[in-house]
Amino acid sequence: MKKIIIINGPNLNLLGVRETSIYGDVSFDNYFKELKEFYKTIELDYYQSNIEGEIINKIQEVGFSYDGIVLNAAAYTHTSVGIADAISAIQSPVIEVHISNIYSREKIRHTSLISKNVKGVICGFGLNSYNLALNALV
Ligand code: DQA
Repeated sequence: MKKIIIINGPNLNLLGVRETSIYGDVSFDNYFKELKEFYKTIELDYYQSNIEGEIINKIQEVGFSYDGIVLNAAAYTHTSVGIADAISAIQSPVIEVHISNIYSREKIRHTSLISKNVKGVICGFGLNSYNLALNALV
């Protein structure tokens, strides 16, 4: 069985409550249940942290044994050399996802420090971005 983890960065624990016009009104816990139901043939894990170092620790922990990582680094996408380096350091393929289309938003969101180190990028499809990334990995 393939092992895949979804890692969500800062403020994504507030999905369903936070800026619903951009991120929608579904909580990630509910959406994750749907994904688990749909992808019954893979072992699907989920981790969320608001703390940069914890995200790096998790990437290192899973990055030599998992078959793939779906990563929404949220605001750290635009700032974190540490997360970009962690992605380069591991073996598992990483797919970068964003719920919103970061290129249609403020200029600061147009730069991703992690994109050059990932296998592919999916953004702008709402929560379906995660589904599309899983689809690409399986
Ligand atoms: C986000 C986009 C980021 O710019 C933002 O900081 C987020 C969420 C997205 O999924 O659209 O927190 O990664």
